[in-house]
Amino acid sequence: MGIPKNNTCNYCSTISKYEKHYPIREGIFSVEKKVLRCSWHSQFQCSQCKKFHHFSWLFWCPNKEILICGDCNPPELVPVVFWNTTYTYGFKCPNCGKIHHDLYYSEFLGVHPWQEEEQNTIRCISNDLSKSNKWYPGESREGKKISLEEALRIPNRVSYIRKRIGTVKFHSELISEEQMRQSEVHQQWEQTSKEWLNLIDQVSPDDKGDINRQLIIDPAMWKLIGDVDGLRVLDAGCGNGYFCRILAQRGAIVTGVDHSESLIVYCQKKEKEQKLGIIYFVSSLDSLPMIEDQSFDLIISNIVFIDVLPYKKALEELARVLKSSGRFLWSNLHPIFARITNTMYRLPFDTVRNEERIGMLIDRYFDTGGTLISWGNMKPIWQFDRTLSEYSTALKQVGFVIREIVEPKPDINVIKNHPRELAFDADRIPYFIIYECIKHPRVKQKLL
Ligand SMILES: C[S@@+](CC[C@H](N)C(=O)[O-])C[C@H]1O[C@@H](n2cnc3c(N)ncnc32)[C@H](O)[C@@H]1O
Ligand SMILES: [Zn+2]
Ligand SMILES: [Zn+2]
Ligand SMILES: [Zn+2]
Repeated sequence: MGIPKNNTCNYCSTISKYEKHYPIREGIFSVEKKVLRCSWHSQFQCSQCKKFHHFSWLFWCPNKEILICGDCNPPELVPVVFWNTTYTYGFKCPNCGKIHHDLYYSEFLGVHPWQEEEQNTIRCISNDLSKSNKWYPGESREGKKISLEEALRIPNRVSYIRKRIGTVKFHSELISEEQMRQSEVHQQWEQTSKEWLNLIDQVSPDDKGDINRQLIIDPAMWKLIGDVDGLRVLDAGCGNGYFCRILAQRGAIVTGVDHSESLIVYCQKKEKEQKLGIIYFVSSLDSLPMIEDQSFDLIISNIVFIDVLPYKKALEELARVLKSSGRFLWSNLHPIFARITNTMYRLPFDTVRNEERIGMLIDRYFDTGGTLISWGNMKPIWQFDRTLSEYSTALKQVGFVIREIVEPKPDINVIKNHPRELAFDADRIPYFIIYECIKHPRVKQKLL
């Protein structure tokens, strides 16, 4: 962050993008030491509580010639487009009964007290009475009136937010799921699967998954799974099949499904070498016609739904092929803490020490949809951010009952051996979530 190089007022610079001849004044105030502001755009004193406030939090009553703040006279939000913003505060004046607006919109309208009255004696934070570089709108005008919904719909510029992080490259903004096609998502995966296999080979030469799987997710999964000897198990979205192979080695009768043909070809090649009796299918999880109803005692799915577009249909299909009272254990990126729209701030920015993170910026939680991203140097794939309740509602609708939610945390010895990756990170924030669901023997609500 730091102080901007030039010392101009932040708000004047913004307004000047919208108004020809707007004077960019000097930023002589710095309330929070980061954003410089001129006397017009700094703080003003309320005539009632005597406190100083940001200029958007006060209105001017021209009849009484006083400023009153929003703490003393709470405003309503008035949706209106002007300059860089989509709303103003509207204050019902206790003196004259009229609606006045905050000083930002007042300036846009040309009724800011310094525009109206030369001899005004409003004090701002430094008692600087300079009204230098006056600007008037030239004609009487109003901002464009819009609905409250429109006013609150500022675009979610994911790539802009995340640009500074560097670990994930963004190729698209958030796109609503209705606008997307499964074929496009599938094609992206197909193009990426070779790289995905190479990456796994590098990070997991022992066929046990990457560090997150080996040290955080899978131990917690296995604690829930328990004994699988003799059970019929489906691995939904099996990827390179490593989890299928572990299940089979522990005595399960295993089927693996993935929509990527090249991944299934890899799995089958491995099966030829190892002969564990695993059956594989290429299919999208939302349509498994080759599998009969109630075929499995247990379904597992490891970090898959973040990548699945037709997730509701997929859950419905998994509920169909699971036996009554059977279990569905699935892990995913945590819908709150591992959102791709989150940002982690560090100070200094180049530090490798996790404890020097200032904190995580979590925002835009309700903005759900797909983003085309690439991890490291991999080709781009689509990922889908959904809220916790979107998933729990979808589970309920197809007859699953959530028995337990686990937010896995590595144990202390694991952290000791991997300080760079895990210390002050995975022990503080759950990036993964595991749901243990039961197919309710009676409850079944048709989804569509
Ligand atoms: C992050 S990988 C995880 C793979 C594996 N479970 C693992 O833990 O290594 C996600 C997998 O989901 C698969 N996938 C994504 N959408 C799918 C869909 N609609 N149907 C079936 N598989 C899908 C991808 O091909 C990919 O193999
Ligand atoms: Zn200014
Ligand atoms: Zn006040
Ligand atoms: Zn008034």
